[in-house]
Amino acid sequence: MIAKIEQLLKEVEALHASNAEELEALRIKFLSKKGAINDLMADFRNVAAEQKKEVGMRLNELKTKAQDKINALKEQFESQDNGCDGLDLTRSAYPVKLGTRHPITIVKNEVIDIFARLGFSIAEGPEIEDDWHVFSALNFAEDHPARDMQDTFFIEAHPDVVLRTHTSSVQTRVMETSKPPIRIICPGRVYRNEAISYRAHCFFHQVEALYIDKDVSFTDLKQALLLFAKEMFGADTKIRLRPSYFPFTEPSAEMDISCNICGGKGCPFCKHTGWVEILGCGMVDPNVLESNGIDSKVYSGYALGMGIERITNLKYQVKDLRMFSENDTRFLKEFEAAY
Ligand code: DAH
Repeated sequence: MIAKIEQLLKEVEALHASNAEELEALRIKFLSKKGAINDLMADFRNVAAEQKKEVGMRLNELKTKAQDKINALKEQFESQDNGCDGLDLTRSAYPVKLGTRHPITIVKNEVIDIFARLGFSIAEGPEIEDDWHVFSALNFAEDHPARDMQDTFFIEAHPDVVLRTHTSSVQTRVMETSKPPIRIICPGRVYRNEAISYRAHCFFHQVEALYIDKDVSFTDLKQALLLFAKEMFGADTKIRLRPSYFPFTEPSAEMDISCNICGGKGCPFCKHTGWVEILGCGMVDPNVLESNGIDSKVYSGYALGMGIERITNLKYQVKDLRMFSENDTRFLKEFEAAY
């Protein structure tokens, strides 16, 4: 009997099966009720008493080894069966987190939407510009101190190449390529040589608007501004225009809105004046029209420009400008509900 057990032990060690049916046949051969091991168990009672202990141990060893081997072969088939070694296809997928729209994009789109309703369409221009489009064509005289109003990044080897300091440069790009009537809104990024702090950055965003046609007047400008302010900040918003200076507009003005944080009563944000400045504007200077090939005796126009960060701050009270460019998803997520 011991010899038979030894023989079966060898067979068990060498077992292999190349598919599930073969494996089942092996299981029947060794482990089923009528299998080889059970046959031996049945013969066990005929074993001489003094041999029972050794034969019993060997028989148990055979049974465990056969079970282990067949289980191992079974596991091997199951992991091969799904065709992807060790890959658990039943596991749930990694959650895909949707990004959120950037607050600057949200506000930019709102500004564009409001002006689109007034018939303005989007125009864009390059961020790397030349002196002509950023300054000269906009009536900034050579060596005029107005050029210092904006700290410009120049390229050392090419002093004519600048990073645009304002989106007013897109006005000139459009005027030189199209004829009035012109009604455009120009969103974009601008650059200024400023030390970065919570209230200034070396790049930020602006939206410029330009309307040129016959008989465009300051009244048209004021009406567009009032509509914009009410749409953007609420129907109770008031506007106030203060005389100002820009080389490319004459007359020029800066527009304040009644502080939408305190409702005009006075708070730290509006420095207790009840008003906050939001944009520059004016009637396009005839020199600018002429420089860009438009007859200033036939056409007139208005222009305005605003900083998107400023508008965003007014709407959402972002305390530190640097937050806009840090890409901290916790900050960005706060604007999830805003669009
Ligand atoms: N370009 C000006 C700036 O960056 C803003 C501005 C003022 C734009 C008056 C205009 C305007 O179109 O008419 O400060």
